[in-house]
Amino acid sequence: MSRTRIHNLSISLDGFATGEPQSAEAPFGHAGERLHEWMFATRFWSRQGAADGTDAGGSAGVDDAFAQLHSIGIGAEIMGAHKFGPPGWQENPDWRGWWGPNPPFHTPTFVLTHHPRPPREMEGGTTFHFLDASPADALATARSAADGQDVRIGGGPTVVREFLAAGLVDHMHLVQVPIVLGRGVRLWDGLEALEDAYDVEAVSSPAGVTHLTFTRKNAPEHRP
Ligand SMILES: NC(=O)c1ccc[n+]([C@@H]2O[C@H](COP(=O)([O-])OP(=O)(O)OC[C@H]3O[C@@H](n4cnc5c(N)ncnc54)[C@H](OP(=O)(O)O)[C@@H]3O)[C@@H](O)[C@H]2O)c1
Repeated sequence: MSRTRIHNLSISLDGFATGEPQSAEAPFGHAGERLHEWMFATRFWSRQGAADGTDAGGSAGVDDAFAQLHSIGIGAEIMGAHKFGPPGWQENPDWRGWWGPNPPFHTPTFVLTHHPRPPREMEGGTTFHFLDASPADALATARSAADGQDVRIGGGPTVVREFLAAGLVDHMHLVQVPIVLGRGVRLWDGLEALEDAYDVEAVSSPAGVTHLTFTRKNAPEHRP
C-alpha cells in the first residue's frame, strides 16, 4: 500500500519551518541555513552534492540514518509553490526551480500552485507538473504517478499543514532545531491535538537536534 510521507522537515523550537521574508537571495528569509546545518553535515547530503553520487564524506551517525530515508521507496513528490521558487517565479516562464538541470527528486514532482503551467521535464527523472488542486486530489494524481511507491510531501510548511489538516499524512519525520526564529511560517497552527492520531517517538542527536517521528496509528503497513 502506498503511503504519504514527510522527511527531514526542520523546524525551530518555536515551530517555524522557514524565516521571512523569502527571496531569491534568501530562500529561508532570516533563518538562513540554520534550520538545515544538521543535514549539511551528513553523508546523505554530501552524496546528493557529489556529481556522480559517490561517497564524498560527511557524518554517518544518527542524523545521516534519518536523513537518507528521504528518498527510499518514494515514487513522487508534492511541494508548494513557495518551495519551488521565490516570490514572483510564476511570472517568469523560464523558472525551473532552485536545483539546476538535474534536481534531486528523480521522480514526477507536483508543484501546487494557483498559477499552473505545462509540465517541464528535467534531467535525472524529475518532471515538474503544476497542479491547482485540493490536497486529496493532488495526492490521488501523485499516487497514480508513483507507480505503487510512496508519495513524499516535500514542504514547505503551508502545504505540509494542509495535508496534515486533511488527515492525509501516514508518516512524518520532523527535526527540531534548537533555535528560536520568532517569525516566519509556522507549521502547527490549526493542528491542535494532532498527536492523538499518531505514535510519536523522539531521538536526540549529538548535533543538538531532536528527530521526531509521527506514525499514523492506522497507517498502511510498512513495506519492506
Ligand atoms: N524547514 C524545512 O525543512 C523546509 C522544507 C521545505 C521548504 N522549506 C521552506 O519553506 C518555504 C516555503 O513554505 P511556505 O509555507 O511559505 O509555502 P509552500 O508550502 O511551499 O507553498 C504554499 C503555496 O503553494 C500554493 N498552494 C498551496 N496549496 C495549494 C493548493 N491546494 N492548490 C493550489 N496552490 C496551492 C499557494 O501558492 P500560490 O497561490 O502562489 O500559487 C501557496 O501560497 C521556503 O522558504 C522553503 O525554502 C522549508
